[in-house]
Amino acid sequence: MPYVCTTAQSLQMDLFKWIFGLLTVLVIFTCLYLPCSRNHKMGSAMTDRLKLLNCMKLRQKFFNISPAESIDMTNVTGPLSAFMSCPHVSNRTQKELNRLRLRFCCNATDLLYLTKKNTAVNQSIPYETSKRVYKVGAALHKMLPEDFPWSSRGHLGRCAVVGNGGILKNSSCGRKIDSADFVIRLNLAPINDSDVGVKTDLVTINPSQLSAKNMAVNPDPLVQRVSVYGNASLMISAFSYTDCTAVSVKTLQVLQPIRPQQPVVFFSPYYLKTLDCFWKGLGLKVKRLSTGFMLVNVALELCDDVHLFGFWPFDINLKKQTLQHHYYDNKLPKPFVHAMPDEFVYLLQLHSQGALTLHLQPCL
Ligand SMILES: *[C@@H]1O[C@H](CO)[C@@H](O)[C@H](O)[C@H]1NC(C)=O
Ligand SMILES: *[C@@H]1O[C@H](CO)[C@@H](O)[C@H](O)[C@H]1NC(C)=O
Ligand SMILES: *[C@@H]1O[C@H](CO)[C@@H](O)[C@H](O)[C@H]1NC(C)=O
Ligand SMILES: *[C@@H]1O[C@H](CO)[C@@H](O)[C@H](O)[C@H]1NC(C)=O
Ligand SMILES: *[C@@H]1O[C@H](CO)[C@@H](O)[C@H](O)[C@H]1NC(C)=O
Ligand SMILES: *[C@@H]1O[C@H](CO)[C@@H](O)[C@H](O)[C@H]1NC(C)=O
Ligand SMILES: *[C@@H]1O[C@H](CO)[C@@H](O)[C@H](O)[C@H]1NC(C)=O
Repeated sequence: MPYVCTTAQSLQMDLFKWIFGLLTVLVIFTCLYLPCSRNHKMGSAMTDRLKLLNCMKLRQKFFNISPAESIDMTNVTGPLSAFMSCPHVSNRTQKELNRLRLRFCCNATDLLYLTKKNTAVNQSIPYETSKRVYKVGAALHKMLPEDFPWSSRGHLGRCAVVGNGGILKNSSCGRKIDSADFVIRLNLAPINDSDVGVKTDLVTINPSQLSAKNMAVNPDPLVQRVSVYGNASLMISAFSYTDCTAVSVKTLQVLQPIRPQQPVVFFSPYYLKTLDCFWKGLGLKVKRLSTGFMLVNVALELCDDVHLFGFWPFDINLKKQTLQHHYYDNKLPKPFVHAMPDEFVYLLQLHSQGALTLHLQPCL
């Protein structure tokens, strides 16, 4: 049936036009005859509300971003840049939910690294990536730390996890990072105060960064390298691959007598295995989680507030300027091991949920 405009409808239209006209006249009148300051206030309140509305929309967009879909840099920088300028909304419920989930699956609180408390003499430790085991002898057991520096309730306060992304270069984020209660860094990344800060409580070492050769004969280069981080714990994944164990144990043996105030600790393969299962169960398709992603999970369990810096696995920033790969060099990673853009989608989701704060812009 063709659509016919009835008399009643057209009358309504006329009435609507008339009221609209009257309103327009009223608005013009008010603008001309009322003091301007009041209108300015109304205007800015209006734009504030529009901004807030836009922020809510953006939060929803990135909250619902599908983890399987990789980020398309050609059209995500605009909306993401706008989203990062929105006030951050933190969600305590979501944080507690994530903390409990991670505690029940993986338990960094009590199992992050091997201690005298969670490891027995002669215990067989399974490797993370193979079926082999390693028997912890009495001599090694004696060198393990007594317990964790945090209480059984965790809660390290405000934590900063510093990734190594090129986005940190010229970021001036050093002061913000150093103001955290607990600072985690990755793979002995260089520190200085302007862009990345200096405070360090925990720093990971990749076994490939160590060389057993000459370590005992001349420990000075190693000592120099690690003393930059003050008394921060040095965490090594000694039991992920079988050929990483000897050099890791050697490092502990060499450093403990020289720098007893700086603990050398070994990532628990139990923790890493369960964390791997947890994320693969949620659909993350990676061969192995990146160290940065592992430490974000540690922080989500142990900290009240988690701030991420330098987590940005793309080669342009939000202003589409070219970035180098790391903030300290431009060496590309081995391909096919990590899937950092896939991990990043999850970090973006966690940010939109109010579970953590991603910092992707320079700190002013
Ligand atoms: C923008 O990204 C979305 C996914 O978020 C994708 O579906 C779309 O095709 C992209 N558009 C362009 C022009 O690349
Ligand atoms: C906070 O997170 C909880 C759990 O996901 C959710 O039910 C709630 O709606 C969120 N609150 C806000 C204000 O977004
Ligand atoms: C974590 O591990 C400790 C030590 O094995 C255990 O006592 C505790 O119950 C575990 N917590 C959870 C939530 O599984
Ligand atoms: C560990 O094993 C060694 C021999 O393999 C044995 O002599 C020692 O008593 C064991 N220690 C403990 C605490 O079981
Ligand atoms: C950092 O700042 C220096 C000096 O201002 C400039 O030359 C350089 O291009 C900047 N680098 C990046 C990655 O923005
Ligand atoms: C590191 O530990 C030593 C010995 O316990 C202590 O004297 C020093 O103040 C500590 N340094 C820092 C930066 O905490
Ligand atoms: C900080 O360290 C980075 C990487 O080592 C370097 O590029 C940058 O120039 C340093 N900045 C200062 C102020 O030393």
